[in-house]
Amino acid sequence: MRRHVQRKAWAGRFADASHPAVEAFTSSLAFDKRLALYDIQGSVAHCRMLVKQKILTRAEGEKILKGLDSIKQELQRGTFPFLPSDEDIHMAIERRLMEKLGPVGGKLHTARSRNDQVLLDVRLYLRDEIAAIQRLCQSLQRQLVRLAKRHAGTVMPGYTHLQRAQPVLLAHHLLAYYEMLERDRARLQQCSERVNVLPLGAGALAGTTLPIDRHYVARLLRFPRVSENSLDTVADRDFVVEFLAACAILAMHLSRLAEELVLWASSEFAFIELPDAFATGSSMMPQKKNPDVPELVRGKTGRVYGNLFALLTVLKGLPLSYNRDLQEDKEPLFDTVDTVKGVLGVLTAMLPHVTFRTDRLREAARGGFLLATDVAEYLVEKGMPFRRAHEIVGKVVRWCLEEDKQLEELSLAEWRRFSPLFEADLLGRLTPEAAVDRRRSYGGTARVQVQRRLRAIGEGK
Ligand code: ARG
Repeated sequence: MRRHVQRKAWAGRFADASHPAVEAFTSSLAFDKRLALYDIQGSVAHCRMLVKQKILTRAEGEKILKGLDSIKQELQRGTFPFLPSDEDIHMAIERRLMEKLGPVGGKLHTARSRNDQVLLDVRLYLRDEIAAIQRLCQSLQRQLVRLAKRHAGTVMPGYTHLQRAQPVLLAHHLLAYYEMLERDRARLQQCSERVNVLPLGAGALAGTTLPIDRHYVARLLRFPRVSENSLDTVADRDFVVEFLAACAILAMHLSRLAEELVLWASSEFAFIELPDAFATGSSMMPQKKNPDVPELVRGKTGRVYGNLFALLTVLKGLPLSYNRDLQEDKEPLFDTVDTVKGVLGVLTAMLPHVTFRTDRLREAARGGFLLATDVAEYLVEKGMPFRRAHEIVGKVVRWCLEEDKQLEELSLAEWRRFSPLFEADLLGRLTPEAAVDRRRSYGGTARVQVQRRLRAIGEGK
């Protein structure tokens, strides 16, 4: 069979065709295909500008716009004929335009280089994806709020060092993740402002001799700003790095949530029951119900971190301005977009079906000296310096350990052996619920504080 050899855009300068190994090695088509519709969108705006500036005639512009529209339909229907010789999506679309229009198709690339074109595509793409990821964060936040409202009175142990520390509300614990996601959304928003800058018109690296109007293109494509330095424009991938970094932090948050779900689903904790539809069995051990979904959420964080490092490493040491190394920005970017969207989607779907074992949670918050700080703060209220109070309660705890007793079980007479400041009102305080509700400091775990936060969230604050 005769290999179909497509003439390259740069064939004028070259005596020989590309080696097939080079074609395969340098091609980005397999992954930058996903930019196709953004490439068309950018070309439409570019073409309009060329007509407005009289660089193209109105008739030429109309032909090109029609050609682009029919290519768009082929792309949407999945009938666009990709060729192995198409080096990237930009060349594929331009080649198709020439097939449809003949030489006039070759006028679209006037005053444009793939170096600024590819950035336009990526910026348009990323702008949409950031908005989509922000919406997914919001859906997950909504599920956390719903669960928090459902568990407005459920107490559980709060931990430091993975040791039971003080009782907290389950709602407070869940809303901690709400706050993380709130920061993630804000970070993505800030990143989006730096994505939203028009690169087109930087040309290959130095601008163009032709009388283009970059600000007009920016208006057509709703870019609030136009980039300032053509060299910087074609070399810059900061906005991708920032996005990958924001996603790395987001993935880290989701991984911490996933880790807690894994722990809580274990028989050791038994705080939650995972829904069957989101768990998997073992091929060998019939009794197993494994938390594979949160485990994969945790595991996929590795590639999201890796993508950030891959791009930083590509950029390190690149001289100005464009270098082909920069093509390596896309796979990490696309992989992070897909991974983060997948993780957010599955967590949002799973969370409403997780059963919290409120009896187990409360039981774990009782005993175990979780109320020791409360007793020390009781003595402080009676006028004792905190350090002294800390020491006295430490002694009570040691005595309880020796006598195999819990703080909640001591009689007033026993308490008074350690300090005459203990009075009958102490005993009523020694429940997890009372301990929670006394932590009324702003942002604390008391029901009034958690309710205040839930109200503010409801009002969009
Ligand atoms: N596929 C290339 C990329 O992703 C487009 C720019 C190519 N420019 C060039 N001078 N070869 O970076």
